[in-house]
Amino acid sequence: MSQELLEEALNAFIFKYKGTYFLKDLTSPEFVDAIEHMEVRENDVFLVTYPKSGTVWTQQVLSLILNEGHRNGTENIDNLERAPWIEYNIRNYDYNSRPSPRLFSSHLPYYLMPKDLKFRMGKVIYVCRNPKDAMVSFYHFYKVFPKLNYSIDWETFVDLYMSGRVISGSWFDHVRGWYTHKEDFNILFITFEEMKKDLRAAVLKICKFLNVNLDEKAIDTVVEKATFKNMKHDPLANYTFFPRDILDQSKGDFLRKGTVGDWKNLLTVAQSEKIDQMFKENLGDLPVRFLWDIK
Ligand code: A3P
Repeated sequence: MSQELLEEALNAFIFKYKGTYFLKDLTSPEFVDAIEHMEVRENDVFLVTYPKSGTVWTQQVLSLILNEGHRNGTENIDNLERAPWIEYNIRNYDYNSRPSPRLFSSHLPYYLMPKDLKFRMGKVIYVCRNPKDAMVSFYHFYKVFPKLNYSIDWETFVDLYMSGRVISGSWFDHVRGWYTHKEDFNILFITFEEMKKDLRAAVLKICKFLNVNLDEKAIDTVVEKATFKNMKHDPLANYTFFPRDILDQSKGDFLRKGTVGDWKNLLTVAQSEKIDQMFKENLGDLPVRFLWDIK
């Protein structure tokens, strides 16, 4: 019976389209299909992530880097407006009329992105996080969605995550897809762990990729405004501005812990080993090293 209720709750919450899962009511197959034809400008920046990998954090970093005006803290522009989602246009922005440099966010797999990007128009910043920490963060995040009218326990969530039946599908497909198609895009890969280890170095790396020259003071300001502590209390950055019927943060903060290695508090040895094995099977052949183990 409970399995039936779970299926029902999931079907009311997410839908599958072209190999991945989307939030219901916030987008549609037609809307997703239209993204392919979105006109990309030379100086557009697309922030792409698998969910819970540091998207909002990087939205903050990028919008601070790209827009002088946001840095002084006086503008009343939240992160959703600074970096709207291409597949979830919940505020009905007219993307075409937005001034450059435009910044967009997305959880899309590489093959659903605007096709101009594949001709190396615009830039992509892909942020990746240890799949175990992303899983734990995702589990807590699922409690914040009022539309998921079902209390999913940890074991059930692990099954859903490992089988890719969560928003945006499988972590392994997402990361592998983007990594193996990196030559098609003008792309920078960066990790949550790298940002955590040395945010200033990560900001400099991003500035270099974007060809943006900021003086020392401006870099300091970006770093300062993008620390976990400051973002947590910044109403323009902590997603408390998000409509409550979509994200109800009375059930849990979006900026929850912001740490590396929280998975050790929740995963069993068997679950951890299973992820290691899946990592090996899905990405083991790639010449890629991640900074998972940074303390
Ligand atoms: P936790 O749930 O582990 O705390 P996304 O924006 O992709 O949904 O990712 C959310 C995760 O990024 C959450 O992880 C959140 O706390 C973390 N995060 C957001 N801003 C951060 C910051 N400034 N520093 C560190 N982690 C941050």
